[in-house]
Amino acid sequence: MRPKLVAGNWKMHGGTIQNRELLAAIVAGTEGLSGIGLTVCVPYPYLSQAQSVLQHTAVSWGAQNLSQHDKGAYTGEVSAAMLTDFGCRYVIVGHSERRALYGEDNHTVALKFKAAQTAGLIPVLCIGETLDQRAAAVTEQVVAEQLDTVIDLMGIDALAESVLAYEPVWAIGTGKTATPQQAQDVHGFIRSRIAANSRGVANELQILYGGSVKANNAAELFAMPDIDGGLIGGASLVADEFITICRAAKN
Ligand code: PGA
Repeated sequence: MRPKLVAGNWKMHGGTIQNRELLAAIVAGTEGLSGIGLTVCVPYPYLSQAQSVLQHTAVSWGAQNLSQHDKGAYTGEVSAAMLTDFGCRYVIVGHSERRALYGEDNHTVALKFKAAQTAGLIPVLCIGETLDQRAAAVTEQVVAEQLDTVIDLMGIDALAESVLAYEPVWAIGTGKTATPQQAQDVHGFIRSRIAANSRGVANELQILYGGSVKANNAAELFAMPDIDGGLIGGASLVADEFITICRAAKN
């Protein structure tokens, strides 16, 4: 059995005062929820705050992006080593907003995946199709390409030390969730594609679903055989919503 993982993606939201309340509520509301992984990916400036509030709790923390470079003249960038310096466990890589708004292509995403793993971080690799791609029935081709670029660079065994997140772009922040069956179909495809390379890696790999996961739909999504938890955007900013989603992963 793969343990479930619930990861919050705060995106560009937060402030020290709200964060303190939200983090304290999450810690209190998830206390005793053993056997699942819980993490929050916060904006860079709040990593230190997340570290000080969450260390010695069952909730880990991470970042939403990183540079593919180790160090150097890259104004505005943040390296993997800087993230580990603040105790990060996870880092989101290749989120569709990074791909669409900041021009991150599959190759850049693969380099970021590599930088994360080299530093000992667990990359949460996001893959997923747009609405047009779904309409054109190329969903499997798109996610396969996104995945293969990483496998080609890193090898299949590297996936064992990572987490995947299937996030259909049309479901992100839209309130339009993939149905559990739609999500399961793609998760099943992803897992079987990986199994063709390594059955062991495929069996162990956590594949999260992301895209308008809420308190009222998390349980039915997490009940699907190949959905191992969620990457949660909007609902991770609301303590009660997020806690309910964490509890749904436990059941
Ligand atoms: P959402 O975002 O839950 O607000 O749809 C998910 C994500 O972008 O990771």
